Amino acid sequence: MNAQPIGVFDSGVGGTSIWKEIHALLPHEHTIYLADSKNAPYGQKSSEEIIALSIKNTELLLARGCKLIVVACNTATTNAIAYLREKYDVPFIGIEPAIKPAALNSGTGTVGVLATKGTLSSSLFLKTSKDHAGEITIVEQDGFGLVPLIEAGKINSNETRQLLTHYIEPMLKANMDHIVLGCTHYPYLIPVLRELLPPHVNIIDCGAAVAKQTLAVLKKNNLQNTAKTSGLLRFYTNKDTKILTSFLEDIDGLKQIEYLNF
Ligand code: DGL
Repeated sequence: MNAQPIGVFDSGVGGTSIWKEIHALLPHEHTIYLADSKNAPYGQKSSEEIIALSIKNTELLLARGCKLIVVACNTATTNAIAYLREKYDVPFIGIEPAIKPAALNSGTGTVGVLATKGTLSSSLFLKTSKDHAGEITIVEQDGFGLVPLIEAGKINSNETRQLLTHYIEPMLKANMDHIVLGCTHYPYLIPVLRELLPPHVNIIDCGAAVAKQTLAVLKKNNLQNTAKTSGLLRFYTNKDTKILTSFLEDIDGLKQIEYLNF
């Protein structure tokens, strides 16, 4: 079982930001990454649709023998992970907007959250934000339009800059000092955001925490691969292999990037 792969899925290429953290921490693990780009963005879909897509992705990963699944998508985690955990026996790791560390470290008492509509309207997000409502002011912003631009590889475009400028404006007006990236596509926007944000605003992205949690859950369930060789890294997209490849250029190792109709 321990030589079985870790499965990772997202609505597209964004979850590779999480996958990279996992691979950096666990280089000996075999992994399978699914980019469901054909169905991106998930953020505008209903909870029922997001659950159905998450089931489809999970079953494909389980059919390929995955021992643990990382839901590398805030929208799928906040809408579907409770359901997945109930339905399947393997451990699931998810990601949701990291409001807690932002709240703990905020000096101004105002934190911005940039996430998809699907995440911001989920009951899991509503509960987390309510838990912190006494301590801080949360300025939420739906990042409508950003995921399709990233999926098209237009990270440095004027369109992306204009949208981001528009989205961070109310947060800056409200005097935020932390911005939480509540979508796994958004870490790819950090260089642009850094240019647009004043230096005192911290960007919170919890990819590294997800990798640590993955290691902890593997250990707890005795599922770590003890081999000393590097893992086999398989990536499947149901849209454009070129785009997915461009997000993985910085990765060495035994990469296989293929089109799969799923
Ligand atoms: N990466 C997904 C997330 O973290 C993007 C959602 C979407 O496809 O809209 O929420």
